[in-house]
Amino acid sequence: MKLGFIGFGEVAQTLSNGLIDHGLKVLTCTDGRSHKSAESAKSTGVYLCSTYSELAKSCDILLSAVIPAEAVNVAKNVGKNFNGIYVDLNNVSPATINEASTYIAEGYTVDAAIMGSIKNGLKTPIIASGPRAEIFAELKNYGMNIEVIGSQLGQASGLKMLRSAYTKGVSALLFESFYAAFQMGLDEILWRYLSQTEGSNFKDSSVSRLKSSTLHSHRRAQEMEEVSKFLSKYEDPLVTRATSEFFHHLHDKLGYISEKPTDYRDVFRKFKKNSF
Ligand SMILES: NC(=O)c1ccc[n+]([C@@H]2O[C@H](COP(=O)([O-])OP(=O)(O)OC[C@H]3O[C@@H](n4cnc5c(N)ncnc54)[C@H](OP(=O)(O)O)[C@@H]3O)[C@@H](O)[C@H]2O)c1
Repeated sequence: MKLGFIGFGEVAQTLSNGLIDHGLKVLTCTDGRSHKSAESAKSTGVYLCSTYSELAKSCDILLSAVIPAEAVNVAKNVGKNFNGIYVDLNNVSPATINEASTYIAEGYTVDAAIMGSIKNGLKTPIIASGPRAEIFAELKNYGMNIEVIGSQLGQASGLKMLRSAYTKGVSALLFESFYAAFQMGLDEILWRYLSQTEGSNFKDSSVSRLKSSTLHSHRRAQEMEEVSKFLSKYEDPLVTRATSEFFHHLHDKLGYISEKPTDYRDVFRKFKKNSF
């Protein structure tokens, strides 16, 4: 089996490292890409094709790991002449996956979603759906952690969005409750009482969520807008809309933050100072 990457950023580099170690032939093309991507492909030791059409001709499976805004363009460029499996690994909505699939031979697109940070290497869970998702899942033989969750496009990307709606909604609620508790001088006692029902690890995982919420507030606000559009197909997503509004508000008050704060109370202090 030969595997090709379109896009050679963090995802492609991390997966390639592991897959090459497991004996898989991995290819890419960096024509027109940045020096960083070209160097990273070279240093990883993947086979470099000189054109994207050579890459498509040489692979059984092509993985698109670009940036979400380029997902449809990449599929358009691959086109219907590619006769292997086309896997879209980008963080995009079910609607975008379906749009991208119209440019690929019918039935050959796989919807795939990375469920966590790729920093965990090949062990990072990836869910997949689509009529040929099982073929993509054969990469488990080379160490990847893939679960096929259904046979339709949109199921994997949709599930990822549902997970985001839940986790970001909880993060927003955590901020709101603990910001009030902090101002009342009761945050330690609230941690203690909530830990009785939510589990002993509750404080550590929640503090980590509070900190990463501030670091990524802008991105999360935009992500929740996308999730809200997706959920509108099934319900009126009141909570997700409010979550998006919350993260916009957080970003307005705190601005861009370059490093994870060490103490969540510092974040509350800054938030309070900028609220008046
Ligand atoms: N990193 C993670 O942990 C993670 C987790 C979940 C999902 N994802 C998703 O996985 C995808 C890849 O993520 P990443 O972290 O690897 O991104 P990244 O580090 O920003 O790399 C993106 C790569 O795509 C290339 N690229 C951009 N537009 C392209 C185009 N039109 N044609 C070909 N190549 C193009 C970039 O080239 P240049 O260098 O020239 O810009 C770069 O090599 C994204 O959609 C992301 O949302 C990532």
